[in-house]
Amino acid sequence: MVIKPKVRGFVCVTSHPAGCAAHVAEQIAHVRACGPIKDGPRKVLVLGASTGYGLASRITAAFGSGAATVGVFFERPSEEGRPATPGWYNTIAFTQAARAAGLYARNFNGDAFSAALKQEVVAAIRADLGQVDLVVYSLASPRRTHPATGVVHKSVLKPVGTSYTNKTVDTDKGLVSDITIGPATDAEIADTTATMGGEDWELWMDALEAAGVLAPGATAVAYSYIGPEVTWPIYKNGTIGLAKNDLERAASRIDARLKAHGYGRAFISVNKALVTQASSAIPVVPLYISILYKIMKARGTHEGCIGQMQRLFATQMFNGNPLTFDDAGRVRVDDWEMRAEVQAEVAQIWPQVTTENLAALTDIAGYRAEFLKLFGFGLAGINYDAEAEPHIAMP
Ligand code: NAI
Repeated sequence: MVIKPKVRGFVCVTSHPAGCAAHVAEQIAHVRACGPIKDGPRKVLVLGASTGYGLASRITAAFGSGAATVGVFFERPSEEGRPATPGWYNTIAFTQAARAAGLYARNFNGDAFSAALKQEVVAAIRADLGQVDLVVYSLASPRRTHPATGVVHKSVLKPVGTSYTNKTVDTDKGLVSDITIGPATDAEIADTTATMGGEDWELWMDALEAAGVLAPGATAVAYSYIGPEVTWPIYKNGTIGLAKNDLERAASRIDARLKAHGYGRAFISVNKALVTQASSAIPVVPLYISILYKIMKARGTHEGCIGQMQRLFATQMFNGNPLTFDDAGRVRVDDWEMRAEVQAEVAQIWPQVTTENLAALTDIAGYRAEFLKLFGFGLAGINYDAEAEPHIAMP
């Protein structure tokens, strides 16, 4: 079939297999060009390994440090007349490249929140690798079925306490307008924390430790975001921010336990705001990202997911470097985004943006291009008018 982008609001319902493969190849090339990461991880479990920060972490571990990787994700394979989700094609491309380079790569497509999948993954690690020395927790999900209660928790992106009004952009149509979002209920706050908080990360670490498949010195990392004050009501101080506080709580507990039991460390890395399937669903944030991209590209400090993860591994986690923590004990690779001069420019542009000047004042074009790339569109060397084979089995 000939596959073209079909954008519906903040999702694209099609994806291009060869384009996704080219996107993965680009990320592998970036990591290779940066050179080997010394003393890097050898055996890695990535939860949320098929897109965004998790995929970039997997690529960095494999092609920066020659790590064996186990990837867990939730993707839909192709159906009659319908391509698979991009993470499906990304993982196939990654796995083929990893194996061609002589690296172990094994995949689990299923619900990471379930107890059954945890046991399956633990059994595979025990059988194939013995132990893992790095666990990356990079899930982003709109819902979680609780493994003990069976209750389905749905996360919401809402302010807490009071309504929030600010500018937002319809990235597809290029329309800037005000949006007012009412405050979350207590139940919505609890559901968002149950979905995006730290409980599931702790359950993963429990399962790995109980099975004896954590290597001495093992590291566990999960990702968070803080961002500028203009987005705080919807992010840092909103429902998702409270869930991230819970993720930080889990990081401290896991860290203490790992240390008490003679293992290594657990921590949160605060990453930069980037276009991913998860972030495009957050109101207000895409407009901020469009402004941020313009400023950071002009300054030559713009990075994508792969740039961020390569820098995290090469300058913080490995390569003989110690972790550098902020006052709250978090690693910050959002440091370039949060530089005072960058944020001063954001604050100056923000109030001026309208539908009419959106293209001039922001990098909305870059945002859109990056968004389409997530689905395998707009990559050099791909003939998008040619027939593409959407039905590809997971290796
Ligand atoms: P993403 O949407 O690109 O990736 C989410 C991953 O989770 C995918 O691999 C998906 O298959 C997997 N997943 C979702 N539900 C699952 C389930 N039930 N079972 C197994 N796998 C499942 O998201 P992104 O943006 O890479 O987010 C990853 C983490 O990074 C999140 O914690 C997010 O809050 C954080 N982060 C994101 C930033 C951004 O701007 N995109 C900035 C800083 C942190």
